[in-house]
Amino acid sequence: MSDPSRYAAEFEAARDNPDAFWADQAEAIRWTRPPTQVLDDSRAPFYHWFPDGELNTADNCLDRHVDAGRGDVTALIYDSPVTGTQARYTYAELRDAVARFAGVIRDQGVAKGDRVIIYMPMIPEAVIAMLACARIGAVHSVVFGGFAGAELAKRIDDATPTLVLSASCGIEPGRVVEYKPLLDTGIDLAEHKVERCVIFQRDTQRCELVSGRDIDWNEALAAAEPADCVPVAATDPLYILYTSGTTGKPKGVVRDNGGHAVAMHYSARAVYGLSPDDVFWTASDVGWVVGHSYIVYAPLLLGCTSVMYEGKPVGTPDAGAFFRVIAEHGVDVFFTAPTAFRAVKKVDPNAELGAAHDTSCLRALFLAGEHTDPDTARWAGEKLDVPVIDHWWQTETAWAMSANPLGIEMLDVPPGSAGRPMPGYDIRVLAPDGSEVGADEMGDICVKLPLPPGCFPTLWQNDARFRSSYLDEFPGYYRSGDAGYFDAAGNVWVMSRVDDIINVAGHRLSTGMMEEVIADHADVAEVAVVGAADADKGQLPVAMVVLKSGVTRPSDEVIAELVALVRDRIGPVAAFRHATLVERLPKTRSGKVVRATLRQIADGKEWNTPATIDDPAILTEIEAQLATIGYPRRGG
Ligand code: COA
Ligand code: AMP
Repeated sequence: MSDPSRYAAEFEAARDNPDAFWADQAEAIRWTRPPTQVLDDSRAPFYHWFPDGELNTADNCLDRHVDAGRGDVTALIYDSPVTGTQARYTYAELRDAVARFAGVIRDQGVAKGDRVIIYMPMIPEAVIAMLACARIGAVHSVVFGGFAGAELAKRIDDATPTLVLSASCGIEPGRVVEYKPLLDTGIDLAEHKVERCVIFQRDTQRCELVSGRDIDWNEALAAAEPADCVPVAATDPLYILYTSGTTGKPKGVVRDNGGHAVAMHYSARAVYGLSPDDVFWTASDVGWVVGHSYIVYAPLLLGCTSVMYEGKPVGTPDAGAFFRVIAEHGVDVFFTAPTAFRAVKKVDPNAELGAAHDTSCLRALFLAGEHTDPDTARWAGEKLDVPVIDHWWQTETAWAMSANPLGIEMLDVPPGSAGRPMPGYDIRVLAPDGSEVGADEMGDICVKLPLPPGCFPTLWQNDARFRSSYLDEFPGYYRSGDAGYFDAAGNVWVMSRVDDIINVAGHRLSTGMMEEVIADHADVAEVAVVGAADADKGQLPVAMVVLKSGVTRPSDEVIAELVALVRDRIGPVAAFRHATLVERLPKTRSGKVVRATLRQIADGKEWNTPATIDDPAILTEIEAQLATIGYPRRGG
């Protein structure tokens, strides 16, 4: 018997007749040349949505709503407890600010197709910068402020930007993060020569500009004329967003214009149940995909109000902050990472600070970025008195692969599951031989090609890496890199990564990247970094380090240097603090470090000695060694 639910009907429509389904969704977008074709599969496995369509994404985010008479509706609310300021932009105001700043970057020689790196804190100017690029058809690449100069340099070299946009500082609880030294380091380290930067001077702390290279944001703005929207092909890139791969070289995820606009608009309604009258708040950062999709593009494409929050769940000033923002701005739907609620729960277990605020406006809480533990979901649901929806997605996809689709219908999803496949995603769980596994059996979570609109068409100038990272293992499928299973009711359970990517406070990081940095220390012979379970941040990196023979320095001193090195090269976001020195690393006879076993040991799980290991005794030595630095941190 077929499932009569609305969800099933919509899912089947997208799966069985994708052309008609996505053509319908594309009607919501203003095209300067409407597409006559929906999916171009002639170059499979490279697929292109709406190949002959032409549009401008910023026009759809802003001008279209103003033209429709909604210019007075609030587009963006900036709420910044770290500076004690708030600001609101109507659609008309934001359009004008974006058009004007688009004039600034055009005056700096940026044209359609050129790349612009944006290295900025959570201020409205970051959103304005992104949309200004979109307005003139330039390709933005936002670099998260928690990354250090060396990481910025890698992105500069890959994206080869014409211009870099930055600000004098960011503000973290208890400290001002000076962006300028990080920016200068990034530019110095990069081989690609950055000729021009536009710098926004914040009142909190200004910075020195480099003469001949840096331009003051406000001065440039005063001299600029507004720029019009430049139509681009639906398949032209809107942005590049770098994400962690298994090596130190980040992957440049490309987003197109047309498919992305359609998918963002669709997901705002279908997944989050939003309408243009709603206030949507995503507590993340514009440096992550969550910020791109749900602070900036989706809410604005739909025409609702987006809240941009420059603060933390705790400490700015206290654990009542989330509740305060929801109440004060009348937030209808809220989205953040589970780790944020774990932080609130830890500091204020009874949500006494939250209780002071009336959050009855809220309809739902969405969580993503890492596995949601049922305990945290229950706590947040009780304290906010709303349904809590775990949904699963990645930088690569830009929107949820699985969720409980609030805008279609609320399904019966058990806590711990990330919901059902969203329309457009034909999710399959595969065994190593490529066959589909049965219900409740773990495997590689894959999506049958083509991926729906909005998902990445390739990696920036690297089709080969796109194929080898995602497509070669299971021909005809996109391999997500996550392992999990379907239960008998069709719910998706995302359990772990199949690679060396870890998830720290909802931030995706590569242990390979940390190993490269640590191995660079003069005293280090070898190192293995694994992600170990942590009750607050989900996972934390822990390093097992072998020193070169003859090095006799105190271990504390060496470890402190390694911690500083990772912070300096990768950035504070790596949250790398724990390392232990070991005699040697446990390896198979073919020389591979047995990382899975090391992870089990660090997590305090049952572990067995792998049959192929060359020296079993080292595992118990490492277990003892890890215990001296407090591992396992939970579950032991
Ligand atoms: N610029 C500069 N530094 C930054 C930064 C930024 N934009 N963002 C974080 N950092 C720094 C932090 O100050 C911290 O530095 P420290 O080592 O000196 O304390 C370090 O990077 C680690 O940051 P984070 O992992 O965010 O830990 P935290 O203890 O500061 O905060 C949470 C923990 C849970 C409150 C916070 O991570 C959070 O709100 N996360 C959920 C939301 C989110 O952003 N999810 C991402 C995708 S949905
Ligand atoms: P990012 O690309 O930074 O968004 O990180 C994506 C990764 O985060 C996924 O591949 C998963 O490993 C993890 N992730 C995201 N959402 C979830 C979720 N709801 N449940 C479990 N893991 C998740």
